[in-house]
Amino acid sequence: MTAPVAVVTGAGRRLGFCTCQALLDRGYRVFALYRTSTDEIGQLVERGAIALAMDLSDPASIEQGLAHIRSQTSTVQLLVNNASEFTADEPEHGALARQAARLFQINSTAPMMLMAGLSDCLRAGCSSLTEPTLVVNITDIFVEKPNPKFAAYCASKAALSNLTLSYARLLAPEVRVNAIMPGPIRFLPDHTEQDKASVLAETLLAREGGFDSVVQQIIALLDNQFMTGALIPVDGGRRLA
Ligand SMILES: NC(=O)c1ccc[n+]([C@@H]2O[C@H](COP(=O)([O-])OP(=O)(O)OC[C@H]3O[C@@H](n4cnc5c(N)ncnc54)[C@H](OP(=O)(O)O)[C@@H]3O)[C@@H](O)[C@H]2O)c1
Repeated sequence: MTAPVAVVTGAGRRLGFCTCQALLDRGYRVFALYRTSTDEIGQLVERGAIALAMDLSDPASIEQGLAHIRSQTSTVQLLVNNASEFTADEPEHGALARQAARLFQINSTAPMMLMAGLSDCLRAGCSSLTEPTLVVNITDIFVEKPNPKFAAYCASKAALSNLTLSYARLLAPEVRVNAIMPGPIRFLPDHTEQDKASVLAETLLAREGGFDSVVQQIIALLDNQFMTGALIPVDGGRRLA
């Protein structure tokens, strides 16, 4: 039997890397899409992943990458749109407009290009309507509870959330499309102790979830074949606090 194919963006570190590891454990043939070449990309290649450089801020780079994937496989069983840029709003309105265009390109247009560009491969990967293929878009709990200091980022993730609903309708019944909305999964290196304390103070479960909490939800979506168009919080209850 041929291995199922997965395409994962942002594979070079953190959640994207952990997702690729879990999919390799499950026997997937993984296309690990990255911007910066890292030791983690080397580890994935050693395990058999196909590393593919793609800059999601550049539509031409996405087109090239799509052509490469399509030359290597006619079927895709799983697409995980994980890569994202996260920056606080620029104070000056001209700079803010340029920043917003970039965030929308990386966080919503690029995932849409991948869903559209791989739609025939995703459809062809469905061998039976009881086993549709899957797209998982990683958004953010800020879709429901935006942080005004990051308004452009939040709006770009809200656009991806809405695209999840459109593509769930467009690609059914052969392909399922769902979103996971992480809360505090793993702080970034530039978060201060004060930042961490204030986020955890408004998280019901009072701790970081760790990358596994999202990876487990991706695996749950793979296993539950009756879910599509779902926007699933994995946030330790932060949206309620
Ligand atoms: N960590 C959390 O607690 C948390 C909370 C809410 C939502 N999320 C969401 O969960 C996902 C993963 O989180 P994370 O913490 O692992 O993110 P992260 O550490 O910020 O990593 C982002 C990934 O996206 C890639 N990327 C950024 N811009 C790119 C571009 N122009 N082209 C190609 N790749 C690009 C980065 O590649 P480089 O290595 O080249 O920079 C990196 O691999 C993201 O969608 C994030 O918004 C995370």
